[in-house]
Amino acid sequence: MEKYLRTPIKEIIAKYPPVGALLEEYGIGCVPCSVGTCLLADIVEIHNLSPEDEGALMARIAGIVSPGQVVTLPEPRKCKPETTRKFSYSPPMKALVEEHGVIKRFLAVLPAVIDRFDVQSSADRDLVRGGLDFVRSYADRFHHAKEEDILFTCFDPGLDILKAMREDHERGRAHVRAAGEALARCDGGGVAANLHGYAGVLAEHIRKEDEILYPWMDRNLSVRQVGELFARFCAVDERFAEDRIRNESFVGRLEDAYAEPASKVE
Ligand SMILES: [Fe+2]
Ligand SMILES: [Fe+2]
Repeated sequence: MEKYLRTPIKEIIAKYPPVGALLEEYGIGCVPCSVGTCLLADIVEIHNLSPEDEGALMARIAGIVSPGQVVTLPEPRKCKPETTRKFSYSPPMKALVEEHGVIKRFLAVLPAVIDRFDVQSSADRDLVRGGLDFVRSYADRFHHAKEEDILFTCFDPGLDILKAMREDHERGRAHVRAAGEALARCDGGGVAANLHGYAGVLAEHIRKEDEILYPWMDRNLSVRQVGELFARFCAVDERFAEDRIRNESFVGRLEDAYAEPASKVE
């Protein structure tokens, strides 16, 4: 079993596909992950399973990779049961989760915006421009920049989980670029497809950060690092104060407008 703990998870899943389904059962999405070079041991650590779940998962993986054989299972990691699978964030991480809340409100209203989007209407085109501006300035220049330029630098840049997160950011940026290009050539279908694509990438990305990445980072940051992160995030907040107000009020107006079937955002 020790050998498998040190094997990249995609190799294990390729050789033993039921392992992928089993991980999904435990809420571990290695199958759709675009990187997948994490070792099985890292996955257990990152996902912070309870000792009981970890023991059960390992026994079931052993049953798949070494059926009928007696294998020595690794000792479950020592962790406090009360912290397992609960998300209590440090202050800087809590700030990022709150920013996710604003982005999720935008993603929630986006399908209605797309449904009613008429590329021939200049008001609708302005509205989509406003949405793309929100994504670029709030989700990307403000929030993702805090992650990439500050938070991620506290960890080894070669970590697979960070590579996966950066790849998600890039996929999101590609959709936003493509939506902007489609808008410029009045291609309504292209706008809709790329906005849907963006929403899909970001919703899953935020879930991974809230439930997996941030809790794992919090467990690995020192008290001094948490304090430094908080101070650096506050400096960014100050720099973006006006943009934040503008962006958050844009989302509020969008929600108000799309709560009523016929109304439009000014
Ligand atoms: Fe992110
Ligand atoms: Fe994020």
